[in-house]
Amino acid sequence: MPINGFLFDLDGVIVDTAVFHYQAWRRMANQLGFDISHEFNETLKGISRMDSLNLILAHGGMSLSDDRKLELATQKNEWYLELVSQMTPDDILPGVTGFFHDLKKADHADGPITCALGSVSKNARLILERVGMINDFDAIIDGTKITNSKPHPEVFLKGAAELGLDPAQCVVFEDAVAGVEAAKRGGMFALGIGSPDVLTQADLVVPSLEHITVTELLAAVERARGIGY
Ligand code: BG6
Ligand code: MG
Repeated sequence: MPINGFLFDLDGVIVDTAVFHYQAWRRMANQLGFDISHEFNETLKGISRMDSLNLILAHGGMSLSDDRKLELATQKNEWYLELVSQMTPDDILPGVTGFFHDLKKADHADGPITCALGSVSKNARLILERVGMINDFDAIIDGTKITNSKPHPEVFLKGAAELGLDPAQCVVFEDAVAGVEAAKRGGMFALGIGSPDVLTQADLVVPSLEHITVTELLAAVERARGIGY
């Protein structure tokens, strides 16, 4: 099946908000009297706000009431939004603008490629507006439209459906272990953005979108399918 859809994660793929999430969660953990490492933070990527909080509290050996948890999640989001409010188009990750430019102008052999955002974040639209990319997506699936966070494939299945495509016609762009798993469970080709040591389930991994063109990606999908993916 030809590739006609690209499904992009947001945090850590389009913009470097993954760092802001870590800073805000770390600030909260430190106030509660423990720390979270960079390594532990990898397990939070792609996970919803409340699920992340539950993982962090378990990591710190704490059990709190639902009311207190809501307070903490709200506080974390306020700290996070303070960081987001400073963002400009300069915060778009290297290679993203060029890749989108390429995507829109290229005349692909197998027809047009449309794209959707597939993010668990409830702040996704706000962030896309801040960096001036809200009109670059044909569909936006965010945390307000799903009930299951990654690694459940819901966000990407909804993205493919909204583009009118079969999952096998889509490539997912992901920086998170949970996001790559969601793509594979959904039946999509997973392009990992980051390190192959972390994103072990991805079909292909590049350090950033600076390192691959649309044509190279489509060729890589064909090659991978040729050898049985
Ligand atoms: C994901 C991030 O995109 O969104 C997670 O990778 C984050 O780290 C999740 O917890 C939810 O984001 P938000 O903005 O709704 O708190
Ligand atoms: Mg991400």
